Amino acid sequence: MAAFRLCALLCWLSLTAVAQPHAGSGKPSDTLDKEFHRQRREVLRQQLPPRSVAVLFASPVRNRANDVDYYYHPDPDFYYLTGYTEPNSVLLLFQSPQNVGGKQVQELLFVQPHDEMHELWNGKRLGVEGAAKELGIATRANTDFAGFKLDTASLQHILIKALPHDVRDDASDQADLYSLVEQFKSKVKYPTDFDATRGMLYGIVRAQGLAQADGVTAYVQEAMQQQPHLREDRHLQGYLQAKDMRARTKAVAAIPAMKLDAFSLDQLLDEMREVKTEAELKLLRKAISMSAIGQVEVMKAMKPGMSEMEVQGIHEYVFKKYGAQHVGYPSIVGAGSNGCVLHYISSAKPAIPGQELVLMDVGAEYLGYTADVTRTIPANGKFTAEQKAIYELVLKAQEAGFKECKVGNSFQAPHQAAQEVIADGLVKLGIIKNRAEAQPYFPHGTSHYLGLDVHDRGSYGPFKGNTVITVEPGIYIPEGSPCDKKWWGIGVRIEDDILITEKGWENLSKLAPRTVAEIEKTMAQPSALDGFVLPKLD
Ligand code: GLY
Ligand code: MN
Ligand code: MN
Repeated sequence: MAAFRLCALLCWLSLTAVAQPHAGSGKPSDTLDKEFHRQRREVLRQQLPPRSVAVLFASPVRNRANDVDYYYHPDPDFYYLTGYTEPNSVLLLFQSPQNVGGKQVQELLFVQPHDEMHELWNGKRLGVEGAAKELGIATRANTDFAGFKLDTASLQHILIKALPHDVRDDASDQADLYSLVEQFKSKVKYPTDFDATRGMLYGIVRAQGLAQADGVTAYVQEAMQQQPHLREDRHLQGYLQAKDMRARTKAVAAIPAMKLDAFSLDQLLDEMREVKTEAELKLLRKAISMSAIGQVEVMKAMKPGMSEMEVQGIHEYVFKKYGAQHVGYPSIVGAGSNGCVLHYISSAKPAIPGQELVLMDVGAEYLGYTADVTRTIPANGKFTAEQKAIYELVLKAQEAGFKECKVGNSFQAPHQAAQEVIADGLVKLGIIKNRAEAQPYFPHGTSHYLGLDVHDRGSYGPFKGNTVITVEPGIYIPEGSPCDKKWWGIGVRIEDDILITEKGWENLSKLAPRTVAEIEKTMAQPSALDGFVLPKLD
C-alpha cells in the first residue's frame, strides 16, 4: 500500500512537471530579444508621471485539480515589458533613478532564484544572474522583495493594475505571488477598502471629465449601475450632479488625487500594445499563417462522420508541427447548431453529419502572439443553397468591413458596415421583416485588436498604423429561430486578421480559402490523412 501511494505521488508530481514553464531551454531563434523588451520599458517610462513607479506582477499559477496545475501562461503585459516567462515575479519601473543599496536603478525585477529540487521536477529557472544576463535588466531574488525598502514617501504616484485577489497561497513559499502581493500591500499601506474601480473612475473623471463630459458621465453611470456601492460616493455624485462647465470644474477639482493609481497604467499599456513593432508583426504573421494553413489541411481532410474533437486535433497538430507552443484561446469547432454558440469549446459532437456546416475558430499562439482565424465549411464539401446564401451574405459583410480598415477611421466603422450588409441581406432573404430584427442573428462585434492577447489591448479610438484587428462578421440561426425551418442550424462566421498601415490594409490570413468556390475546390483535394486509419477500440 505504501509503495502504491509513493508511486501515485511520484506519477502526479511528474505530471506537475509538464505543467510548468521550462525557462531558457532551447528557445526558437525568432524569440523577441532583450532589446525589444528594454525599448518597451523605456517607452513606458517616458510616459510615467514625475516621481512615480509602475508595479507589475507576473500572472498566477492556476491549479487544475489536486496537485496538477494548468500550463503556466505569462501575463502578456509582464512578458511585453520583461521577456520573463516564469511565475512569482514582480517588476518595479521607476520614472527616475532611485538609490537602491547605493546604486542608482530605474528598474528592478524580482525573479525566482535557482532551486535544485524545483528545477529537477519542473525545469530550469533562469535564476537571478541568468535573468539579469538573458533579459538585460537589474534583478533580485523574489525572496528579497519582503525586505526591499520602497521609498513611498518620495513617490507621488504608484501605478498598478488591479491586484490579483484570487491567488492561492503556497504556505511553504514566502515568495510566491500571494506573498509578493501581500508584501507590496504592506509597503504601500494599501487601504483594506481600496477600491480599484473607484480609483479608476476618479482617474477618468480627473483626466477626461471636462473635455469629454458626456462620455465620462455615461461611463460613471454605467459603473454605478453595475456596482451599487459606488452610487454613494460623494465625489462621483458631485460630478454627475454638476450641470455646467463651472460646476463640473469645481467637482473635478474636488476629486482626490490618489497615490495608488489603478487606472493610468492600463491606459498607457493599451496605447502601447495597440501599435505593433516590426518584430511583433513578424511573430503575428507567423502565428496567423500557420493557423490559416491549418484551415487548408482541415478542409482537405474533412469527411462526414468525423468528430468535432478530431477536427480540432488536426488544426492544433498542423500549427504545433510549425512550432506553435499553444492555442491562443480554446479552439472553437462547432457543427450545425453548435456553430451558433459563439464560444463553443467542448467539441463534443462525436460524428458530424455530412449536411452540416462546421464552424472552426482556431488560432495558434507562436512565441506569445496569437492568431484568430475562422472558417466555416460544409462537412461533405458542398454548400447547400441555404448555406451558400448565408455564407455569401457574411462574406459580403466582411468585404464591406475590410474597406473600412483605414488609418483614421473609427474603430466601429468595420462593424457598422458589416451590420448594414447583414441587416439588408437578412431582410432580402425573408429571414427578418425589418432591419431592426437583425441583432439576434448577428449578436457580436465585428472587430477586436490582436496581439499577445486574442482580445488584445488597444484604445478603441480611431485606427492607427501598424495595428492588427480581426474582421469577423457572422450569422447564427439556431433551431427554433423565428424564421423558415430551412435556415435552422446554420451558423457562419468568417474571420480574418487584418494589418492596418498608412498604405492600406492587408489580410494576414489570406492563405485560408474564403470564397465558396475556393473552399469547395480545396475540400475536393486529397489529404495526407486520407489513409490514416487507427485500430478499432472495443
Ligand atoms: N476566437 C474568439 C474571437 O473570435 O473573438
Ligand atoms: Mn476574434
Ligand atoms: Mn475567433
